Amino acid sequence: MPLNRKTVTHFLIESMRDKQGHGNLTLLLNDVITACKVISDQVNHGELVGALGSAGSENIQGETQKKLDVLSNDIFLQFNSYGGHLAGMASEEMDDPFPIPEGAPRGKYLLLFDPLDGSSNIDVNVSVGTIFSILKCPEGVEDPEVKDFLQPGTTQVCAGYALYGPSSMLVLTTGNGVNGFTLDQNIGEFILTNPDMKVVEDTREFAINASNSRFWEAPVKRYVDECLAGVEGPRGENFNMRWIASMVAEIHRILIRGGIFLYPMDERLRKQGGKLRLMYEANPMSFILEQAGGVCSTGRERIMDIQPSGLHQRVPCIMGSKNEVERLISYHDE
Ligand code: AHG
Ligand code: MN
Ligand code: MN
Repeated sequence: MPLNRKTVTHFLIESMRDKQGHGNLTLLLNDVITACKVISDQVNHGELVGALGSAGSENIQGETQKKLDVLSNDIFLQFNSYGGHLAGMASEEMDDPFPIPEGAPRGKYLLLFDPLDGSSNIDVNVSVGTIFSILKCPEGVEDPEVKDFLQPGTTQVCAGYALYGPSSMLVLTTGNGVNGFTLDQNIGEFILTNPDMKVVEDTREFAINASNSRFWEAPVKRYVDECLAGVEGPRGENFNMRWIASMVAEIHRILIRGGIFLYPMDERLRKQGGKLRLMYEANPMSFILEQAGGVCSTGRERIMDIQPSGLHQRVPCIMGSKNEVERLISYHDE
């Protein structure tokens, strides 16, 4: 390995040296990153460690849990409970916030996570990931309740995801740009490989689950129809389409080569507010994409401006390359 390579820990210490309280956040991230490496190892070994298949249970949202959903959640809880930097945690897989165990030291941060995103992909050996968001616990709160977690995305101090694909990657922001790291399995370290990631403003690639098209709202239908019409249509250009069914993998593609990702409001989802969860999917991904120059909206408002009303609240998501997202927002305005 070239000797000038930078580990994520080295990078964090260096980039946050001048920030107040940087040491605690770096140490917290160290625990989060260790948890991601453990999940990566389980995902890589798959059936060899009996990690595939259903857990036979349901989460708060009525979704069937995979063994790896439950295992990844347990790994996150275990590796982040005792570092002394957290006041509490919340996850897609738990109804209520998880308190820091009795006797363990408390800290001032809150950690929210989707332990395994895209878990319908796991049994077919397609990319999955982990998404996390770090908030400050309100001053003076020792035992955070749901209301203490309900802070808008603009208050996040850090957001990141791990992608378990052909290689495992970690992508992070602490509000000062976006950086990507690749796991070197031989030494067990994430190495800086994608410094200062940017989302290109223009794209000719969109991602949406087209099987829902009969439920879409008019602006989304118009946007996708115009893309599909290609050179003969009003856009005068051909578009490409992708759908991986793993938000982490879709957002990573957008950071690498641009694109627009849509899980919009539709008739079927209206009662529940959307498909993707605000606190541990939409907000962290919005923080990352905005830090890279992308735009993230429900179609009607900026995602990170939403005042959350529930831990597992869902929101419509339209995110990615600036000019395409703004076009679709303008269709909502018309
Ligand atoms: P999760 O596996 O954490 O429940 O999230 C799955 C999400 C997201 O990653 C993906 O974009 C979307 O659900 C896939 O939805 P469809 O099943 O409708 O394709
Ligand atoms: Mn998810
Ligand atoms: Mn999940």
